[in-house]
Amino acid sequence: MKNLDSKSHVRGESVYLDDIPLIQGTLYACVFDSPVAHGKLNAVDAKEAEQYEGVYKIITAKDLIGENQIGGIIPDEPLLADSEVHFQGMPIAIVLADSEENARKAAKKIAAEIEPLEPVTDPRVAAAKGDLIIPPKKFILGDTENAFATCDHVFAGRTEQNGQEHLYIETQGAYAVPGENGAIKVYSSTQGPTAVQRAVCRVTGLAMHQIEVDVQRLGGGFGGKEDQANAWACICAVATQLTKRPVKYALHRMEDMRMTGKRHPYSSDYKIGLDKDLNIVAYEVTFYQNAGASADLSPPVLERTLFHCTNSYFIPNVTATAYSCRTNLPPNTAFRGFGGPQGMFVIECAIAHAAEKLGVSAAEIQRKNLIFDGEEFPYGQIAESEAITTWTQGDEKYNFAQLQKEADEFNAASKYFKKGVAMMPVCFGISFTKTPMNQARSLVHVYTDGSVAVSTGAVEMGQGVNTKIAQVAAKTFGLPIEKVRVHTTNTQRIANTSPTAASAAADLNGKATQIACETIRTRLLEVAQKLVESASALDLSFADGFVHRNGERTSLDWQTLVMDAHLSRVNLSEHAHYATPGINFDWTTAKGHPFAYHVYGTAVVGVTVDCLRGRYEVDYVKCCHDFGSSMNTEVDYGQIEGGIVQGLGWMTMEEVFYDTDGKLRSNALSTYKVPDIYSVPKEIGILPLETNRENLAVLNSKAVGEPPLMYGIGAYFAIRNAVKAFTDCSPDFDAPFTPEKVLLNLHTL
Ligand code: MTE
Ligand code: MOS
Repeated sequence: MKNLDSKSHVRGESVYLDDIPLIQGTLYACVFDSPVAHGKLNAVDAKEAEQYEGVYKIITAKDLIGENQIGGIIPDEPLLADSEVHFQGMPIAIVLADSEENARKAAKKIAAEIEPLEPVTDPRVAAAKGDLIIPPKKFILGDTENAFATCDHVFAGRTEQNGQEHLYIETQGAYAVPGENGAIKVYSSTQGPTAVQRAVCRVTGLAMHQIEVDVQRLGGGFGGKEDQANAWACICAVATQLTKRPVKYALHRMEDMRMTGKRHPYSSDYKIGLDKDLNIVAYEVTFYQNAGASADLSPPVLERTLFHCTNSYFIPNVTATAYSCRTNLPPNTAFRGFGGPQGMFVIECAIAHAAEKLGVSAAEIQRKNLIFDGEEFPYGQIAESEAITTWTQGDEKYNFAQLQKEADEFNAASKYFKKGVAMMPVCFGISFTKTPMNQARSLVHVYTDGSVAVSTGAVEMGQGVNTKIAQVAAKTFGLPIEKVRVHTTNTQRIANTSPTAASAAADLNGKATQIACETIRTRLLEVAQKLVESASALDLSFADGFVHRNGERTSLDWQTLVMDAHLSRVNLSEHAHYATPGINFDWTTAKGHPFAYHVYGTAVVGVTVDCLRGRYEVDYVKCCHDFGSSMNTEVDYGQIEGGIVQGLGWMTMEEVFYDTDGKLRSNALSTYKVPDIYSVPKEIGILPLETNRENLAVLNSKAVGEPPLMYGIGAYFAIRNAVKAFTDCSPDFDAPFTPEKVLLNLHTL
């Protein structure tokens, strides 16, 4: 089934924040943000801006009624700079005007007197100075020190990974509308309506029941709106509080790129030890996460880097240490994979390094060390592994050796074009690693005309979660999907939501919806039992809009039954709660069972490099992917394709570039290149893994939002292999592998 939004999307009828009809008297906000990355803010001169045409008011930190604080996990992030600026793009003042244009022009008239301080942009420099967001985190399994002494081969090295701009098509934004008695309704382009509600309460000093947050859908989030939607919602809400007027702010692309954080860049050290049979015996890794100027979501992102530092492999001795380093960049944040890809990249580099030195293929080491059922992850959870199955089923379908052979033959015959192939296994844990976040609620109404409305905490951002939730309701009631509508995500209907993140939204909210629908279903079947004079409600079921008895359709249709139930005063609404069972994690021991389950997969990636120009094309990404049992292959295949392309972009052409002053140079689409239709793989192959194991996913349909992104990592190593086929070199592990870097490796000066 297609995504329910697909028709309105292609017709341009879907409603995003910027499409909400405006209320008379709406003011437009624009932020004046710091032109430098670090400094003492001595004065703000807004006199000229105040006089500017259409300007209604200018707000600075001292005007706030509540706390000047939006840090969700650690209170280290002022909404508006007061005494110091910590990154270029940090909001300093809010200009309110009668039009977007006047607000933006007036903001340019503001001047700040800033005494420059030395900016830090390198996480290792921050770590050396002890400037950490949180104390270091560590995972230990076995005993690496003694294990390394037993190894036949030990290799050590360093890797660099850059950030990634989210580039959601819809930029950040919010629209705040005043209500009665000081209440405020906030429309926000956010993945976390409750996070917005909490942040707005803090900066306005209002209670949560005075703030309503409503989200229709996002034009993409990718993690960038999990926490970072808060600032814009707070800016609008604060302005509404101070002016009693509706206030809107939809960021321009360049404002968004400059002022918001991105995927975390990491610098890492690794040491890998193998025995003579290529078993990885020991692995030591240290991650330096570039957190940016404040915590934002850096701590849990750092944790997930640790959770995924051994990817799909079983390694008996692991010591993994992670530092979250404070720098003068915009606070970096969640991005599809949430730190997991950064952890996986390093182990893949370590394996590639070992393979290169030992003269074997990386695939041999990868295959040999895949985790088995019953083996332990460094964090204590025991694997229910599909790692080997996805590899072998992928191999049967795609014939990995043959693909390698074709590349080798091509390379033997071609001088200036070289092909490279790499394998990329993926293992990704599903659940928020902070156990209390794994809960959700759903509110289901059956109206007297038989139509069904569902509200949950899930936010639709293109990933199709609303389609899946509607499917769950339709399936439970035996109704066609048209009978079900999923309403906006609204904090008045669903309270205390977890953000739509961790790929877990469909599982959590889908399960809550299933529970709510089943409760109503049971009530309706009891009514039906009397109407069709059945001995037991157990004989009855719903299908095709009718009540069935022992699988045979009766004359009682859904709508008649619903009306009858209502007249008999039966409750046609239900609010249900779901909390993932069986998960736990204890940070004092760094052990537990944090994930409901893992998603596995194996991809093979092939590329062709033009060795005169350094350009490359991705020929194919073919994967065997563990869907459990997909409830919607169209949506899920879309997630795989999109995830792969986003992962490829991160590893190849997307280059976030801050200069040493902390100024973003890749600040527009002219200087930041993302994959377009010409740079997507020529072929994406998706083979669903066939198993029928039980899992905790909704309708057994495993989460799919993030894991496929990590197949894209394979492109990095495929390009590296192609480069090595051209010239005897050993490129540094420095991602992304831009055409420029490829060229420099192909032709050493
Ligand atoms: N797909 C689209 N089209 N747009 C998005 O913003 N975000 C990704 C992924 N797929 C995203 C997407 C991220 S970061 C996550 S965590 C999941 O969707 C969240 O949705 P889910 O929990 O419903 O999978
Ligand atoms: Mo996704 S990075 O968990 O929003």
